[in-house]
Amino acid sequence: MAGRGEDRPRLRSRAWFDDPGRIDMTALYLERWMNQGITPDELRSGRPIIGIAQSGSDLSPCNRIHLDLVNRVRDGIRDSGGVPLVFPTHPIAENCRRPTAALDRNLAYMTLVELLHGYPFDGVVLTTGCDKTTPSAIMAASTVDIPAIVLSGGPMLDGWHDGELVGSGTVIWRSRRLLAAGEIDDETFISRATASAPSAGHCNTMGTASTMNAVAEALGLSLPGCAAIPAPYRERGQMAYATGSRIVEMVAEDLRPSRILSRSSFLNAIALVSACGGSTNAQPHINAMARHAGYKIKSEDWQKAWDVPLIVNMQPAGAYLGERFHRAGGVPAVLFELLRTNRIDGTALACTGKTIAEGLAGKESRDREMILTPEEPLATHGGFRVLTGNLFDFGIMKTSVISDRFRKSYLSQPGQEGIFEVRAIVFDGSDDYHERINDPTLQIDESCILVIRGAGPIGWPGSAEVVNLQPPDALIQKGIMSLPTLGDGRQSGTADSPSILNVSPESAAGGGLAWLRTGDTIRVDLNSGRCDALVAPEEICRRLSAGSPEIRESETPWQEMFRQTVGQMEDGAVMEFAVKYRGVGAKVPRH
Ligand code: FES
Ligand code: MG
Repeated sequence: MAGRGEDRPRLRSRAWFDDPGRIDMTALYLERWMNQGITPDELRSGRPIIGIAQSGSDLSPCNRIHLDLVNRVRDGIRDSGGVPLVFPTHPIAENCRRPTAALDRNLAYMTLVELLHGYPFDGVVLTTGCDKTTPSAIMAASTVDIPAIVLSGGPMLDGWHDGELVGSGTVIWRSRRLLAAGEIDDETFISRATASAPSAGHCNTMGTASTMNAVAEALGLSLPGCAAIPAPYRERGQMAYATGSRIVEMVAEDLRPSRILSRSSFLNAIALVSACGGSTNAQPHINAMARHAGYKIKSEDWQKAWDVPLIVNMQPAGAYLGERFHRAGGVPAVLFELLRTNRIDGTALACTGKTIAEGLAGKESRDREMILTPEEPLATHGGFRVLTGNLFDFGIMKTSVISDRFRKSYLSQPGQEGIFEVRAIVFDGSDDYHERINDPTLQIDESCILVIRGAGPIGWPGSAEVVNLQPPDALIQKGIMSLPTLGDGRQSGTADSPSILNVSPESAAGGGLAWLRTGDTIRVDLNSGRCDALVAPEEICRRLSAGSPEIRESETPWQEMFRQTVGQMEDGAVMEFAVKYRGVGAKVPRH
């Protein structure tokens, strides 16, 4: 082990537990760990101290499986010669946290940095699951840059209701429309929603959670096959053991995030998201992780991935759910196809110590209805269309989820394919939307685009998943299930709405949505990537001088600090000042 004369790096933890220069401090540190039964000999044996960042709790139900898995992680660490220490991360409950869980990604990031930096860890197992738990952990791992490995919690089992596959989140958006159309009652709504969550685990659709855990695997930060194993499967516990075992070796090999992550590993991740029909939230999260790792992902990088075909047949873009995805081969089978068709860089290093390509040998899909080939995909464009114009510099649209009806009515006018002009109906936040969406005087019809502003990182604050605005009940009853939408917030990764979202800059940061008015015409051209309000420049100036929409007051100290430090979605909505800190774990903090 390191510190016994070999030329391996001295373990960080020895500065705490075995520092001959300050024997009084060593004694003090050792004494404080005794009450859990750990012996001084263990801590001074030169065995690496491995943190297990526990993200599961009653407040993080999607990650609760880790409360059990942690025992197998400990076993793996122990059997490989490490000493495990479990500690909690800031909890993030995606759909219960008000005003939005997006406030917590940067908070969880910052607190995890403090824990990994300020305590005697030589390596860490990052337990992930629900949407933001994955990027926050990976962002922190880059800032600290000690050996780190991701253990996903895995999706829930597939949900079934009345013989129909019902997937997390997606069933909610679909049932809301059925409710508005009068086709189901409240009770059926609830039973469809709860049927979609039959076990422990995170969302079983290709929502943000499945997307981000797949991304962690594509980045090389978790063991091959880790992301897709359903939470209750026996393989999940075995993966937990293998992950615990591997991190001890990684410490010996000094295999840190900075040696694994590169610009091409983030481009690989973007290609994977596109092939999976993954969540639009991957955009800010991948950009954020890249920035903390020292790389810049540009809008062209996202635009380029539009050409990656959709090959994963999973809701919301496809038909199936997590169990079948896992059985078909999961993330390795998707990466296999991307590598075979030269869409990813196989030379990137993984936490296995081998390249991504080496980890993919023989991993082709076992189910071609679930994981298809790029030659015969579900759709030719799996990625996001990047848009720009006079309303915003950057926005994205996930076209893989757009319905045939929407395509026919908006995107397929002869000679005008992919181009449409629509009348804006502007809402200031979601309360305003709920109050007015069914107001007949707005005369909302198929020629409209529903716009929401004040929903970005500064405006909300935190950036809310609200852009998938549902049409008025009267339109739904006529069979019009979706209108185009636009907003400076996000939408759930499980949504199937034709939305232009994540627009930057947001209205609260001086973006063009601030001057947009109900009744303005917006022209969207998906071919050229333009989205413009047809408003004369003089009129825009006049409106700008008349002032901008009001911004809500911060309600807590963190909301205020978040607003002061956060950047725009295009740049990952990170705490801007924080990206300059990298590799802070290399220096042991002072006593
Ligand atoms: Fe937590 Fe989907 S809400 S994983
Ligand atoms: Mg979400």
